[in-house]
Parts: sequence; structure tokens; C-alpha cells
Amino acid sequence: MCGIVGYMGNQDATPVIMNGLKMLEYRGYDSAGICTMDDGTAEIRRSSGKLINLERLIKDKPLSGTIGIGHTRWATHGKASVTNAHPHKSGSVVVVHNGIIENYLALKDELIDRGHAFISETDSEVISHLIDEKYELTGSFEKAVQLALKELHGAYALCILNQKDEKTLIAAKSGSPMVVGIRGDEYFIASDMPAIISNTREMVIMEDGEMAVFREGRVTFFTITGEEIAKASRHVDWSPLKAEKNGYPNFMLKEIHEQPQSIKNVIAGRLLDEKGDVFLEGLNLNDCELNSFEKLCLVACGTSWHAALVGKYLIEEQCRIPVDVEIASEFRYRDPLISGKTLVIPISQSGETADTLAALREARGKNAHIVSICNVVDSSIARESDGVIYTHAGLEIGVASTKAFTTQLVALYLLAIRLGRANGTISQEKGQEMIVELSGLPAHVKKTLELDPQIEEIACEYLTSWDAIYLGRGISYPIALEGALKLKEISYIHADGYPAGEMKHGPIALIDREMPVFILAPNDRHLIKVRSNMEEVITRGGKVIAFCSEGDQETGRRAEFTLKIPWAGEILSAVLFAVALQLLAYNFAILKGKDVDQPRNLAKSVTVE
Ligand code: F6R
Repeated sequence: MCGIVGYMGNQDATPVIMNGLKMLEYRGYDSAGICTMDDGTAEIRRSSGKLINLERLIKDKPLSGTIGIGHTRWATHGKASVTNAHPHKSGSVVVVHNGIIENYLALKDELIDRGHAFISETDSEVISHLIDEKYELTGSFEKAVQLALKELHGAYALCILNQKDEKTLIAAKSGSPMVVGIRGDEYFIASDMPAIISNTREMVIMEDGEMAVFREGRVTFFTITGEEIAKASRHVDWSPLKAEKNGYPNFMLKEIHEQPQSIKNVIAGRLLDEKGDVFLEGLNLNDCELNSFEKLCLVACGTSWHAALVGKYLIEEQCRIPVDVEIASEFRYRDPLISGKTLVIPISQSGETADTLAALREARGKNAHIVSICNVVDSSIARESDGVIYTHAGLEIGVASTKAFTTQLVALYLLAIRLGRANGTISQEKGQEMIVELSGLPAHVKKTLELDPQIEEIACEYLTSWDAIYLGRGISYPIALEGALKLKEISYIHADGYPAGEMKHGPIALIDREMPVFILAPNDRHLIKVRSNMEEVITRGGKVIAFCSEGDQETGRRAEFTLKIPWAGEILSAVLFAVALQLLAYNFAILKGKDVDQPRNLAKSVTVE
């Protein structure tokens, strides 16, 4: 999703900004632009498509200057085009913006009435017009920004230049992330740390309602109402991970195959085999504190929400604690019933998802205790939580979440052991058994990956399908949802996941000879019921592809295809079914010639609501 990089210092700003934008590339964008200032002249280059197009443009028409701002745009208001790409310039003011200005239409009408002419279809362009107008009135760049910000409703992270105050750069934020990196009298501003961490590890994290004014080797922080504030920098000691395909044709396949290792990573150092317990270093809650919560509330979006659903089945059953699962974009606006007795667990790969972050803040406002499950270290969600369980999946570049999802499942499994041990629902012996099963999981994942040739055959057989249904019961139901989402997002085949028992309440009407139905039938307590659901589909002429467990000779007998998945126990087999469904979606997409790493319309880190 949109990325911002700004620079003020003594080097040529263009390479610093372009390198920063490249670090954010994998998050998804559809146009890019840069502005540098030299001798009071702001020069802008913008292009649609990938950064390589912008690089070519800069090569043809080089830029100069030691102060500049850059942007990658993921279209929300206005299509992906050069005109809609940032930076936007109005009068002497140049702006890059992440977020959404919700009252932009009203502001635009007012500005047009006052004689402003708009060039783009974006919400962002109102910001440059407003600041320019206020600057003409006040003659002060800071004052102009403050006055303009007062009129904006919505979310923003901004970097702003002004030809008439050529040695100044202003950054401001509300609702979208922004950090400032400091190296002597050089300043690196970015929407995300990885964009600038190769330049400096001294970071100041800007909070909502703050602005930073960079002028002649100094930075001063203010509230947007103009009061100066002191902000300390912190040293960040993690290293940016390198995005390399290591011989794989794309990142998604690499990340699918990394799962045996990423699962080892999320477990590493956390198992207390003897005690039948786990150590979660960032949890920051003792047994007594853990037992004081009346309920858990897992909140997330997309694939992470599917992980949360698995978490509900797992934790309620093993630990006998009520668990609510909430879609973050709904939770944040519906005055949820939570209190200081609720443990709220936001789950997020990126740690920057706008809705999940807003849900966290909603929960914070209601005094809930917050422990997040995140992959990206030091992300906004991780920083704003009371405790964090990191999933240690490593950098995930493919837009479709794969290793992030399975490590979230394992993190939830670890949390379940901890909760169960703390409240006595999991005995030492049971804890030991769960740990033994978990320790064997990476090897089972490896074996599951070896099923790829059979999975490819299935994808070939049903390649012309326009729709697909995924069915599962119990813990396999959220896995069915996840399988359907994976197929939709990378192959563009419409797919839906249902609890198998719900079919007869409506979806069964969809069954015909064209519809592949992927039935998840692990060898658990639901198997007999799932077989009956399978019969209901077959009886109506549906094409059944059965995903069952190794050793099951029965389930697949009436299916068109059967895939036998290793058995890793009632709970952890879900991870293996998820891996098989990732490979299924992957094969469909590759056979259809789709770009699996950057599917159309999607962004890796969804920083707008
Ligand atoms: C799907 C996918 C998305 C994300 C969702 C939440 O494959 O990746 O559905 O799961 O956008 O993202 P995070 O986990 O970063 O909060």
C-alpha cells in the first residue's frame, strides 16, 4: 500500500528516496513519484506502474537537490495514472500523502469556489491546495500546515515541501504511520522503518496529531496545534531482512516452502518440554494475571482473521475460556462489549493494518489488556500492545499470506498451552503431549509439501472452473475459508468456504456438474459427519475432491480425487491442510498464468481503512 520516503541532508536526495521506496515496493502500489528541491525550484517526476518506470524517467530527466519527498501510491480515490500519482503540487506547495481524507469532496468544492483548479481525481490534492492557500494568507509554512490539518477529517501521513520556504520539509501524521530517522544533521522520514533503516538506526516514532519541521539541519516537533514538544529517539537493533527468491520462480512458492523452517522459528526457545509448558517472552503476564481475564477477544482482518477463528476453536476447547473473534473493520465501529477484564489479541502479519490498529486503539480506550500476535518486529501494532508474541516467520513478500498464517496458528497453539497451563485446564502431561506433537510439525509440513505433483494434477483437472466450494467442520472450517480466500486472491476463481453442515441451509443449491467441491476431511471426530456431507454433494452431481488423512481408506472412495495428508494430531493437522490448500491455489494461479506475488488490486500492508 502507499509508502512515503523523505530526505533532508547533504547528499543527493534522489538515490536515498528511490532506495527507500524500493524497500517498500513489495507492499503493493500502482504508481510512484518523487520531488526534489534545488534553488527554490521543486522538480517532480511521476509515473504509473512499477518503480522501474520512475527510474527510467529520472534517468532521462535527472533531478538534483539535497531535500526531497517520494511516494508509492496504491489507488483508492482515482485510478492508477500519472496524473493521480503523488507528489501533488499546488502553487508553491508539494505534498505526498498516505491515508484517506474523508471530507475531501466538501473541501474540494469550497476550494473550487475560491478559484482553485484541480488536476487529479485524488482526495490528496486538496491538501496541497489548502496548505498553499493558507501559506499565501499567513506567510508561515508551519502555520499554513497547522491550519490546513485542522480542516482535514480522516487519516494522513504527510511530507510537504514549499518552494517559497525552500530549506524546510514538514511531516505530519494522524492515523497513518510515520517515523523519522536521524543521522547527525541528516533526516530520513518514512512511513515504515525498513525504508530508511539502512541509513540510520536512530528513530523517532511520530504519534497522531504531531508534526515535525526539518529546517537547516534541525528538527523540531510540534503538536498540530502548534505547541513545541520534546521527542526522544530510540535505537532500533533489528536488521532489515533481504528479499531474495533463492532460486524459486516467485516469492510465494519460496515462502510456502519455507514453512518447515518458519514453524521451527516460532517454536524456537519457547518449549519447556519437562514442564509441559511454554515460555512466551513478550507476553508479560504471570499466571495470576492471565487467569484474571473473563474472556479473550481475537481481532484481525483477512487471513489473520482466519487464524483467529482457528484460535477460537483451539483455545475454547483446550482452555475453556470464552473467545470472541472479531473482524477489525467491524469491531472498531460497533462499541464492542469489552472491559479491563478482556484480553484483546490483535493478530497481524504486517502489524500495520489500519483496521486492526484502530481496533487495538478502540480496545485500549475500553481499558482492555492487549497482547498482539505480529510478524513484523516493532510495527505499530506491536509497539502499541502491552505484550507481543512474535511469529518470526521472516519477511513475507508474496501478497498472499502463507508462512505468516501457519506461524500465526502455531503462535496461537503456544498461547493455548500457556493459558491452559496457567488455569489448570491443560495438565503437565497433556502439555507435554502437545509439545511433542508440535515438535513433529515441521517434518509433517515437509512431507505435505511433497504432495505438490498430485496437487498440480488436481489444479489441471479443474482449471476451467469459475467457482469452487471449500467445506470443513470444526477447526477445518476456518481452514476451508482460508483455502477459498487463497484461491480467490491469486487465481481470481470465485470460491467460498462453508461449514460442511451448513450446506443444506442454502449453498447446496450451487452444486452442479461444473462445481468442484474441496472437502476437508481430517481423521478427527467430525469425519463421519463430513462423509455424510460429502454424500449430499455427490448425490446432487457435484464433483468432490477429498482432502483426508493418511491411512484413511474410506473417505476418498466416492471422490473424483483424493489427497492424503499426513496426520499431525487433531489440532495441528489443520496446519497441514492449510499448506496443501496454499499449494492448490498456487498451482491454479500458475497454470492460469497469474502473477502470484502481486495479484491485481491487492496490497501487502493495508494501511488505509
Ligand atoms: C490474504 C492476506 C490478507 C491479510 C490481511 C491482514 O492472503 O494476506 O487477507 O491477511 O490484509 O493483514 P495483516 O495480517 O498484515 O494484518
